[in-house]
Amino acid sequence: MKSQVPFPFLLSLLCGAISQQIQYTIPEELAKGSLVGNLAKDLGLSVQELPARKLRVSAEDYFNISAESGDLLVSGRIDREKICGRKSECALEFEMVAENPMNVFHVIVAIQDINDNAPYFVAKGIDLEICESALPGVKFPLDSAQDADVESNSLKTYTVNPNQHFSLSTKESADGSKYPELLLEKPLDRERQSSHRLILTALDGGNPPLSGTTQVWIQVTDANDNAPVFSQDVYRVSLQENVPRETSVLRVMATDQDEGINAELTYAFLNSPSTSLFNLNPNTGDITTNGILDFEETSRYVLGVEAKDGGVHTAHCNVQIEIVDENDNAPEVTFVSFSNQISEDSDVGTVIALIKVRDQDSGQNGVVTCHIQEDVPFKLASTSKNYYKLVIDRALNREQTADYNVTITATDRGKPPLSSRTSVTLHISDVNDNAPVFHQASYMVHVPENNPPGASIAQVSASDPDLGPNGLVSYSIVASDLEPRALSSYVSVSAQSGVVFAQRAFDHEQLRAFELTLQARDQGSPALGANVSLRVLVGDRNDNAPRVLYPALGPDGSALFDTVPRAAKPGYLVTKVVAVDADSGHNAWLSYHVLQASEPGLFSLGLRTGEVRTARALGDRDAARQRLLVAVRDGGQPPLSATATLHLIFADSLQEIQPDLDDHPAPSDPQAELQFYLVVALALISVLFLLAVILAIALRLRHSSGLNAEGCFQPGFCSKSEPGRPPNHSDLTLPYSHCLCVASHSAKTEFNFLNLTPEMTPPQDLLCDDPSMAVFSSNEDPQMACDTSFSSHVSFYKRI
Ligand SMILES: *[C@@H]1O[C@H](CO)[C@@H](O)[C@H](O)[C@H]1NC(C)=O
Ligand SMILES: *[C@@H]1O[C@H](CO)[C@@H](O)[C@H](O)[C@H]1NC(C)=O
Ligand SMILES: *[C@@H]1O[C@H](CO)[C@@H](O)[C@H](O)[C@H]1NC(C)=O
Repeated sequence: MKSQVPFPFLLSLLCGAISQQIQYTIPEELAKGSLVGNLAKDLGLSVQELPARKLRVSAEDYFNISAESGDLLVSGRIDREKICGRKSECALEFEMVAENPMNVFHVIVAIQDINDNAPYFVAKGIDLEICESALPGVKFPLDSAQDADVESNSLKTYTVNPNQHFSLSTKESADGSKYPELLLEKPLDRERQSSHRLILTALDGGNPPLSGTTQVWIQVTDANDNAPVFSQDVYRVSLQENVPRETSVLRVMATDQDEGINAELTYAFLNSPSTSLFNLNPNTGDITTNGILDFEETSRYVLGVEAKDGGVHTAHCNVQIEIVDENDNAPEVTFVSFSNQISEDSDVGTVIALIKVRDQDSGQNGVVTCHIQEDVPFKLASTSKNYYKLVIDRALNREQTADYNVTITATDRGKPPLSSRTSVTLHISDVNDNAPVFHQASYMVHVPENNPPGASIAQVSASDPDLGPNGLVSYSIVASDLEPRALSSYVSVSAQSGVVFAQRAFDHEQLRAFELTLQARDQGSPALGANVSLRVLVGDRNDNAPRVLYPALGPDGSALFDTVPRAAKPGYLVTKVVAVDADSGHNAWLSYHVLQASEPGLFSLGLRTGEVRTARALGDRDAARQRLLVAVRDGGQPPLSATATLHLIFADSLQEIQPDLDDHPAPSDPQAELQFYLVVALALISVLFLLAVILAIALRLRHSSGLNAEGCFQPGFCSKSEPGRPPNHSDLTLPYSHCLCVASHSAKTEFNFLNLTPEMTPPQDLLCDDPSMAVFSSNEDPQMACDTSFSSHVSFYKRI
């Protein structure tokens, strides 16, 4: 560095050694060994004398002096800022000492500043808080930077990196130092950008300028400048009805872009009538149920919710809650109209009741179907929506079923379905539709004759299933085969009990049977009735003794004689005792016994036949006139009997016995004549009868090969005609068959030919009717019976 020492000043130094002053100017921070100036030359010392003068400088830290050339050299670091600080003028003053002669020289080295220090910020960074509500134009002074250099090398300006919101200006404070000032150009929005980072640069005035930077952290603080915002304007949710209390429905959510207390939201329901059913948590926004929801009551709720932040901002939203129906209501069945009493003759299709069904649920949960549970003669017919008719489906019969319990079940179509049932009892009312019915198709009673009058002889009964008067039966006699006038004197019937009373003693011999038609009538309107026949058979009792027909006393009380030829052989049929019994059966089965005989052993008497035969030939010692006392007994219990006396005369001619007959006049001529004609007639009838029998047998054999040829003669043949009924003459069988049977039972050789009164039933019928007689007759040889003929003797008798 070239020294700039003013020459005249230098000369004066040379003159006064102590006051000589030499000044150099160097920039700071020269390298070691750099030449400051040739001090020796400037002091006017010659090079030759220099070693002797032993030049030294006092500021050895910074400078030394070359002993050979006298050059002042930099020996250490010269930092102006270190030496002089912030003083704008800086100089090092020191003395240079020369020996031989001793001289002290004052040396001043002015040190010039170089830009060797960059500006710097003391703090590592600058933190700044700016409220977002700050208006543009607000200034924020910042810390200044430091620069050790002075003058033009000192700090000159600040800059900030380009940004949207801030600009920077450099201000000078009162003490001259420069500081940066931040200017808000555009409003801040914390919600958009909550912090800003700026690079602040300080520049000095050097050439080239040096810089120092720091960061400015700007924290934007919140202002309550945002209203809460719900995540949805309308919240929609479906909720099953009947969910339990405190079921969570949904959560409404609002947000506030502010922070802190400005973002603390509280929720509340806006006034709405149904909010008592719901709870809203003011902090979380959770909505829960506060009661039981019923779809049938309200199917949709709309709730208004408000959110409010810490300040004044609010937001609103709607919550729509759709209640979903559940099948929680069973159908209801009600009877709109109902007739309890149903006549049993009601027509099929008659409406009994009108039924209404209802289900409060909706959709399929509310669709109801009805049916009847029991198997009853009723059915449901749907009339219109939710209405049913209960109608008669089948014919009713009160006598079968008087009451019906009808249970109507209504079921909806929910899942699972609900049902309800309603029962009614239907009463069927009676109609007189049943006639009384007798317990038997016909009745038959046997009443022994001679019964006490007024005795009950039979009871008929009929039942009627109808109710009340319709089923109340009374009895009466409506017809009979008795004479209408005689009827009431025979029988009567109790109207209530159906007991039949005999009004008199019956006589089997007069009336063997009769038939009544009894009627049972109920009290209905119109009344119904039924008829039944009651046949009364009058039984026989042994109340008639046998009556001897032959021999009978003459009109004058004289006895008849029977003649026996003297030469009669043993077994000769002398005569026959003929008797009748008005009773029938055993009571009329006669037996003959000899009570007394003038000559015992001469005659024999047929036990059943009554035939009197000679037992031996007549001897000389035997009397011509014989007498037999004969008893006739019937088979009743006890038996009744009659007696007859036979007068027998042994004679060869009538003349022979004439003397004997003087006492006993012979029968008159008209009688004999009649006897003769009757014999002829009977013979004729017998021949015709035999012819008829032969013809009948022939016809039978031809027409029914399977029929026994003996059929006609079998005892059963006789019973072909019904008991108590007169023989049917229109049958192929001849009326004589009855006579034939009678003959076979009673005797081989005899007919009791009776002149009957019209009102009398032939006794022969009864003979055949009697089973015991039938047995008896079956023992007989039928052929024998048919061969019966008038072998010897026939007697005629007219009954009076
Ligand atoms: C002066 O400084 C230079 C360089 O540092 C050195 O070489 C020399 O020896 C020094 N002279 C004296 C007298 O100290
Ligand atoms: C009907 O129900 C009643 C009471 O439940 C019962 O006493 C009666 O016996 C029932 N009738 C029929 C015909 O089932
Ligand atoms: C019952 O008999 C009477 C008299 O013979 C007759 O009038 C009536 O019709 C009969 N009734 C019946 C149901 O046969």
